[in-house]
Amino acid sequence: MNKLKTHCKNIAILGSTGSIGTQTLQVVRESASYKDADGNSQELNVVGLAAGRNAKLLEEQIREFKPRIAVLYDEKAAAELKQAVQDIDVKVLSGMEGLIEMSRMEDCEMLVTGIVGMIGIRPTIAAIETGKDIALANKETLVCAGHIIMSLAKKMGVKILPVDSEHSAIFQSLQSRSPSFTEGETVPGAGNSEIRKILLTASGGPFRGMKKEDLAGKTCSEALKHPNWNMGAKVTIDSASLVNKGLEVMEARWLFGVPVDDITVVIHPQSILHSAVEYTDGAVVGQMGTPDMKLPIRYALFYPERKYSPDRRLDLFEIGSLTFEKPDTEVFKGLALALRAAKTGGSMPTVFNAANEVAVARFLKNEIGFLDIYETIEKAMDAHVCVADPDVGDILEAEKSTHALLGGF
Ligand SMILES: NC(=O)c1ccc[n+]([C@@H]2O[C@H](COP(=O)([O-])OP(=O)(O)OC[C@H]3O[C@@H](n4cnc5c(N)ncnc54)[C@H](OP(=O)(O)O)[C@@H]3O)[C@@H](O)[C@H]2O)c1
Repeated sequence: MNKLKTHCKNIAILGSTGSIGTQTLQVVRESASYKDADGNSQELNVVGLAAGRNAKLLEEQIREFKPRIAVLYDEKAAAELKQAVQDIDVKVLSGMEGLIEMSRMEDCEMLVTGIVGMIGIRPTIAAIETGKDIALANKETLVCAGHIIMSLAKKMGVKILPVDSEHSAIFQSLQSRSPSFTEGETVPGAGNSEIRKILLTASGGPFRGMKKEDLAGKTCSEALKHPNWNMGAKVTIDSASLVNKGLEVMEARWLFGVPVDDITVVIHPQSILHSAVEYTDGAVVGQMGTPDMKLPIRYALFYPERKYSPDRRLDLFEIGSLTFEKPDTEVFKGLALALRAAKTGGSMPTVFNAANEVAVARFLKNEIGFLDIYETIEKAMDAHVCVADPDVGDILEAEKSTHALLGGF
């Protein structure tokens, strides 16, 4: 009788209680039943889990996945969690030190960055420094520190595998040129001279097609109703304002080594074509699928293999037609401001992102209107004296001074 061999990939998840984190854990559950052609099972083993303050859900996750380290950023919540899991062999940590300690865990092979915001920068750097591959959802890290992350990843010989659905689609489209992983490539297939253009798709969000005067009175609950995707609150508001697409242009620029001018944003309301690459010979290679984040998460976790998914399949007959439009950057000014920040470079993307984080937090508390998000970002960018080639200290300083200018959260 054949003895089944098991290869377990050890992973840690930053932001395990959020939308990306919980979907990653769902993929982990399903992975237990994956078998390769020889009948070997290929499981994922969770060695670390981290979140902000949701002690209740993290406790449930600890009981189910049995990580060695669990972190809550909030100290009080971490103390409650420690008390609640006294009966389990798990090290409970808190604060940035805790996030960094988990990201550096010796037996971990991959860090999934499902955390929201710039807080992800230092733990991501810690993971790369200790040789872990990154399954990257936390786009803010690349937006603000892309130059640092990508060159460090190259130096350490680690892979950055995109989780954002558009970037995963581009990554998958790049495999048509570079079908298998080549030693030393940070993002396999990226940066080759045969790429002419990246076509980055966007649903257009719940306010697509509206005029400026329509946007003025839009409330937080209206902005949270995304037509196709079920995501965390911040990224859902960013999708409605098209700020998210701007952040994704900056993310793509670093991941795939293409100039900002070679990235074209295309509004595609059905969210079926998740993005595409146009090659020099005119071929456009894209990836389609149902709008479900578990597909890109699964691809990043198991790259270069494709694993069986029990989820709903794409039915082109049911969809019928796919449509494409140009974005209206005069109404949805968030995209225009992002392109300005991307082209200015240096510390400007950090200021764009930090101002947006403040504005979205205020919009979610109904303190400001929808269009004030753009006003807030523009005010911060106009006031900023850009630092070229910022280090992590400069980036954190740019974030701090933006918060100070805007009066904090
Ligand atoms: N959701 C999607 O479908 C999607 C798609 C593409 C890209 N992304 C990107 O993925 C990232 C996560 O998005 P999301 O939608 O999953 O966000 P989310 O649902 O709001 O979840 C955020 C996660 O980060 C944790 N967190 C927040 N502050 C933290 C801190 N200071 N220390 C440690 N953990 C902290 C939260 O913990 P608590 O629950 O304890 O607060 C939660 O686990 C974002 O960068 C987003 O742009 C998301």
